[in-house]
Amino acid sequence: MQVGLIGAGNMARALARGWAEPVLCADPLPGRAAELASEVGGEALDSNRAVAERADVVVLCHKPAQLEEVARELQGAARIVVSILGGRSLADVEAAYPDTPVVRLMPNTAVEVRRGVICYVAGGGVDAELDGQLRELVGRLGIVVGVEDRLIDAATGINGVAPAYVALIVEAWSDAAVKAGLPADLATRMAIESALGSLELLRARDQDTLAVRRAVTSPGGITARGLAALERAGVRAAFVDAMDAVTERARS
Ligand SMILES: NC(=O)c1ccc[n+]([C@@H]2O[C@H](COP(=O)([O-])OP(=O)(O)OC[C@H]3O[C@@H](n4cnc5c(N)ncnc54)[C@H](OP(=O)(O)O)[C@@H]3O)[C@@H](O)[C@H]2O)c1
Repeated sequence: MQVGLIGAGNMARALARGWAEPVLCADPLPGRAAELASEVGGEALDSNRAVAERADVVVLCHKPAQLEEVARELQGAARIVVSILGGRSLADVEAAYPDTPVVRLMPNTAVEVRRGVICYVAGGGVDAELDGQLRELVGRLGIVVGVEDRLIDAATGINGVAPAYVALIVEAWSDAAVKAGLPADLATRMAIESALGSLELLRARDQDTLAVRRAVTSPGGITARGLAALERAGVRAAFVDAMDAVTERARS
């Protein structure tokens, strides 16, 4: 399936790097599209419509507010539309592209290394054969999760924001170790590898967070003291506030 990207920004780049196959793309800044095409192969075209006319499937990688404006440009040319637009429901995209099969995705930038978590919801115009083809295409980028459209905003509060949250946590964690005397490079590498190993362990233990936590938390021990300090600092409340902030913004 020839993929066409409408917009050549951060998410388009991550998707194209993950697919590692030639793409067609367009962007208001022609240099940006040309750079992407020269990196992954394919062609930068001079309009969104030219991309839609040649692509089997167009992936909307512009900003959410541009849905209607871009749809007017692509009307009648797009054969299959895949939207990654945050906060724009499947119904919004289907209304903008009537009579066109539409799929809504919510990916994250880890698709670049094929470790993405990608929420997937297909519209009414997608038959079983097309659904299978699109799931295969998206599945090359990581794990595909079926999520009801009404829950995608909440899901975004996990997968969409994950690279930023995890980067912040690694940074804060290693900075704290630097304060305690560890060299910065070593602290960062240790935080990343410790997180990766602990996540693998959680998966091996059937996602049982409490059991994994209890197994390393001896009464009165150092882990118990560290955890208590994190709780005092409001780590759980911070995640609840962050989720509220994300879902509120996505709905506005
Ligand atoms: N970043 C993420 O982690 C993430 C995760 C999930 C979903 N998304 C969704 O992915 C989409 C893109 O996000 P992003 O972070 O990649 O933003 P971005 O880096 O700003 O990329 C958007 C690109 O679209 C271009 N564009 C603007 N108007 C256009 C038009 N009329 N036709 C074609 N392209 C146009 C922008 O150009 P200008 O800069 O010149 O305006 C920019 O190059 C958003 O809808 C977002 O909700 C992002």
